[in-house]
Amino acid sequence: CGEKASLGVFEEDNGNLVVVGFSQPGAESAWRVALTDSVKENFTEERGYKLIYKDGRSKQDSQIKDIRTFIQQGVDYIIISPIVETGWDTVLSEAKDAGIPVIICDRNVVVENESLYTAFVGSDFTAEGEYAVSNLEKYLQNDEDGEINIVHIQGTIGSSAQLGRTKALEDAVKKHTNWNIVVQDCGEFTKAKGREIMAQAIEELGTETIDVVYCENDEEAYGAIQAMNEAGVEYGNKGGIKIVSFDAMNSALVLCMNGHISVEVECNPLQGPYIYNLISRLEKGNAVPKITYVHEECFTADNLEPEIIEKRRF
Ligand code: AHR
Repeated sequence: CGEKASLGVFEEDNGNLVVVGFSQPGAESAWRVALTDSVKENFTEERGYKLIYKDGRSKQDSQIKDIRTFIQQGVDYIIISPIVETGWDTVLSEAKDAGIPVIICDRNVVVENESLYTAFVGSDFTAEGEYAVSNLEKYLQNDEDGEINIVHIQGTIGSSAQLGRTKALEDAVKKHTNWNIVVQDCGEFTKAKGREIMAQAIEELGTETIDVVYCENDEEAYGAIQAMNEAGVEYGNKGGIKIVSFDAMNSALVLCMNGHISVEVECNPLQGPYIYNLISRLEKGNAVPKITYVHEECFTADNLEPEIIEKRRF
């Protein structure tokens, strides 16, 4: 970035540091804290950056307000992890008019004009959902004749994480005539909501009716497990309800290796190095790819080993 001729009303003198504003939607999960840490670890003063972090407290309006503050402050780059996919056109146009490159991370946006942001780094949530469903199919192979009743605990409605993971399950339900979604409710990616939805499902449907709980992140799975423990319901590969979850946090992988969670799809929060790489290239005047998907895998008890889990530090 070039030297600034004069400081605006809201601008601070940051010396030669490159100033990056980072807007997160909230802190609903340990996964999100890991993403925040990964970005903070990469944009350090030692590397020539000043990072301004803002938490949108789970509201799109707050995130938009935070982004407008970054624009007023005259930051050099803005990183946004958008709470939902739509509704960003106006604020992104404002950033573009101010000449500030925007990197969208984690979840994606849907905008009328893709030139409103510079690049996207994050997960392919449809691929994540497809991993989950194809592995679940393997566990249910022997049940092809019986009905498969699924409790579906969704993430924040309208987020690309929810949309991709939900689409894969709904497509699979269309394909398998014996798969039924018996409960579909929004767990907001939180443990408290996951527990609440599962407890209610057990109460309303009874313990024998539910075959699968498809949780759209680990927090929801931890909540669902708590509800099942409290109700004395059996779950896991040896019998009882099969659990599908996303994130692959360290403790969820332990549950997966031990057969309590049947399918764990990784959602990789270590996106800081990818974003750092993009911004370093932009700083040098180089072109960057429009879309970068982070590396992600799918785990079951069959491919998990303690060494893999030890490497997960979140
Ligand atoms: O957008 C990624 C999702 O958001 C993660 O699965 C979840 O844990 C987080 O809150």
